[in-house]
Amino acid sequence: MSAPHSRQLVAGMIGGGQGADIGKTHRFAMRLDGHYDLQAGIFGRESSSSRAIGASLGVTAERNYGDAREMAVAEAARADGVDVVVVATPNDSHFEIARAFLGNGISVVCEKPLTQGSASAAELVRIAAANDAILAVPHCYSAYAMVRQAARMVRSGELGAIRFVDVEHASGWASTPLEKEGHKQASWRTNPDIAGFPSVVGDLGTHAFHLLRYITGLEAQRLSGRLQTFVPGRRVFDNATVEIELTGDVPARLWASMAATGHNHGLRIRVYGEKGSLEWQHEDPHHLKVQDPAGTTTVLTHGLSTLHDDASRLTRVGLGHPEGFLEAFANFYSDLAEVLRARRDSTPLPECALSFPTGIDGLIGVQFVEAVAASHHDDSAWKVPASAHRKAAA
Ligand SMILES: NC(=O)c1ccc[n+]([C@@H]2O[C@H](COP(=O)([O-])OP(=O)(O)OC[C@H]3O[C@@H](n4cnc5c(N)ncnc54)[C@H](O)[C@@H]3O)[C@@H](O)[C@H]2O)c1
Repeated sequence: MSAPHSRQLVAGMIGGGQGADIGKTHRFAMRLDGHYDLQAGIFGRESSSSRAIGASLGVTAERNYGDAREMAVAEAARADGVDVVVVATPNDSHFEIARAFLGNGISVVCEKPLTQGSASAAELVRIAAANDAILAVPHCYSAYAMVRQAARMVRSGELGAIRFVDVEHASGWASTPLEKEGHKQASWRTNPDIAGFPSVVGDLGTHAFHLLRYITGLEAQRLSGRLQTFVPGRRVFDNATVEIELTGDVPARLWASMAATGHNHGLRIRVYGEKGSLEWQHEDPHHLKVQDPAGTTTVLTHGLSTLHDDASRLTRVGLGHPEGFLEAFANFYSDLAEVLRARRDSTPLPECALSFPTGIDGLIGVQFVEAVAASHHDDSAWKVPASAHRKAAA
């Protein structure tokens, strides 16, 4: 999928150290299409292991930093400084780290949820714009070819007027009290100071909500949420059900869970229109099931020549060869690379209607979390998320 390009983009990373989960996925994905070279970073809170990991990744000693602000200033001053920094740390540190880089004009990929509150998320969006930096948020499920196919089909009216959307990111990964066994990722995701009380909404609900917005192009007008804690003694909510009224009064239902016993990753979306319906699931990502009013089922496959260009352009190996999570993450990074290069080389921005999620999407995700929590604490009363005043997603 990659076009001929000028020199590689220089990347930095914060997080992704010993035993970390998502940082290594970012590194694999950045490498896949050859757009990025990781040259700087801080790979953990503990200095000696961070530097050891940096060295093992080929980061030189002078660019193997100990402090994000020091790194931002030093990299901004270098002629060969980083073009983009990936923030893959737990949620409570996103704001300070992202602010340090954006404030120095360095673009940022910041993990979700963007920050712990909408005021700080909006502040990051503002700082990025003021410093001509790109802020991207890796809701990478939107970068699967078959999700882009679904988005194009829905947005161009192939399903007719949308009647109902059902999305779930219901995983069973923490259906037992893993946090009591010292499980690294469960420990901070069940700590309200780091993940917030509506933890599962920020962690998995924001992915599901972004997928819904991305495929339909519709925004939440109001919502009613209910939160539960299924695992006894857990200090955060680990299950959430949300009824949503989308643009045009289209009803939707969202379920986010980290305690859906037995489910693996558990991300699935179904969209029902007046002329047909579709279904996509993350655990079978190269298929998109489409059904007509008579119930006839068509299964579209990654690599088919009949797919929309938005999907076809994401195929590397062709029909019959599965691509998956790493490739979707790499699609996110390839779309981002085009924009970062245009910014660096002062060339026109690429025109791509279905591209990567930005800081605005991150902000809308945080506003969604806040609205769900507010609704829950008001006996599931309907609430209008702050994002409702924006026009429908482009
Ligand atoms: N986009 C996705 O699909 C996806 C998937 C998983 C996690 N995430 C998000 O990624 C982030 C990280 O999640 P994880 O599960 O990989 O966490 P993790 O606990 O597995 O890893 C976090 C890493 O950050 C390091 N770290 C913590 N604070 C730091 C600091 N101040 N400076 C430098 N390094 C620091 C830790 O040492 C560790 O290496 C979270 O915000 C999470 O929500 C996103």
